Amino acid sequence: MTPSRRFIDASLVGCYHTDEMSTLDSLNHEIESCTDCELASQRTRVVPGEGPEHSSILFIGEAPGFHEDQEGRPFVGAAGRFLEQLLASINLRRDQVFIANVVKCRPPNNRDPLPGEIQSCRKWLDKQIEVIKPKMIVTLGRYSMVRFFPGESIGKIHGKARKRDSIIYFPMYHPAAALHQGSLRQTLKADMLKVPELLAQMGKGDGGTQAKQLGMF
Ligand code: URA
Repeated sequence: MTPSRRFIDASLVGCYHTDEMSTLDSLNHEIESCTDCELASQRTRVVPGEGPEHSSILFIGEAPGFHEDQEGRPFVGAAGRFLEQLLASINLRRDQVFIANVVKCRPPNNRDPLPGEIQSCRKWLDKQIEVIKPKMIVTLGRYSMVRFFPGESIGKIHGKARKRDSIIYFPMYHPAAALHQGSLRQTLKADMLKVPELLAQMGKGDGGTQAKQLGMF
């Protein structure tokens, strides 16, 4: 990740001055050097996630795929293009939200992440949530859903929000699921359309202002 400010030109100030890194930048550096599970030995790049440090909305997918592993950025393949369409349907661009994954390194051949891999990566998502302090967490797919709704089924709870500790949790199907099962496209579109209203209804919080600032209305 790029630092939040540029280096000061050393020739002007007569000394070298390294810029302070934002908390999120330093967290990203930590994530990028993680070797806590087997996935580290097979990855091309770590994919910590990206977006503004204090995004109101945090989207959480499953794990990087081939393209994400090559680029070090989340959701840059076909599923990402559909996610961008879904965001556009509520007047959002991807750079206005934070996009992360449950697992930060690509499982070989895009296999499902193993329980041990999910467990050793858990701390990174916890820290991201602590730093970003999102108003709303949108889970994309089963792996991300069970992190917040253990024992529940995506077929039953997708599109239904729950508020806990001042955060709205909103489970959705994974955009990639709609690429394999066309009927889920409509479901994902309908669920995404609920996001602006949910954010606006955040009780006494400033959800309405947040939604307006994001240009959703
Ligand atoms: N699928 C995910 O869950 N995450 C990505 O970053 C890309 C595809």
